[in-house]
Amino acid sequence: MEPSCGDGVFLHQLKNGIFKFNSSTAIEFNNIEAQKASAVQLNKSEVINEDFHKFCNQTAKRFDIIVGNPPYIRYQYFDVDQQLEAVKVFERANLKYSKLTNAWVSFVVGSSLLLKETGKIGFVLPAELLQVSYATQLREFLSKFYNKINIVSFEKLVFPDIQQEVVLLLCEKNNTASHQIEHIEVKDADDLEKLDIDLLKSPKKRIDHKNSKWTFYFFRAKRD
Ligand SMILES: C[S@@+](CC[C@H](N)C(=O)[O-])C[C@H]1O[C@@H](n2cnc3c(N)ncnc32)[C@H](O)[C@@H]1O
Repeated sequence: MEPSCGDGVFLHQLKNGIFKFNSSTAIEFNNIEAQKASAVQLNKSEVINEDFHKFCNQTAKRFDIIVGNPPYIRYQYFDVDQQLEAVKVFERANLKYSKLTNAWVSFVVGSSLLLKETGKIGFVLPAELLQVSYATQLREFLSKFYNKINIVSFEKLVFPDIQQEVVLLLCEKNNTASHQIEHIEVKDADDLEKLDIDLLKSPKKRIDHKNSKWTFYFFRAKRD
């Protein structure tokens, strides 16, 4: 599933790559973008032109893998209907809705709620995920909800045009009792090709639930 597929960049990758999948569901709010994504014509796939929050609150479907590059929009710029749906997403996850929050937070929370008993998410997110105050409860939520968390950061800007530092958040829920986290830094997006996938399977640091900022794990990574 992809909660905000835009013109279908990820769907193209799915179509042209060597990935095995049974079916895919993509959501996109903008109808012109949704039409472009539909034109990818991926096998056994649907593109739903709707607000992701509304989809999240109404669907009974559950997914194995969810990937995305969610919108970065402050809540005050959301229309009222979307704000109400986003509040419901937070409530369903037992989190408090804050007007300071940003759309990418509710996309990550909502997507997590749509995973099957075991599953994985992979998101491109602003690097402020690691320490910004409005994402404190998101970090707490992720630390408890997921068993493995990997943060991949980049030395160079991945999107120089928008001057936004991004990270990859890769999480696995496997219903074990362990909660491990790891930070991996690569030079740039091309460097991801060389990333040892086995590293992602076994994050090494035990999550310290008392530490609200994830930069803590980075400092330790640099000292180790
Ligand atoms: C950063 S773009 C990413 C697009 C695509 N995933 C990519 O990587 O190229 C974010 C997308 O979210 C869509 N979007 C914004 N608000 C949305 C909402 N409430 N529900 C679903 N999609 C939304 C925007 O129209 C935009 O296409």
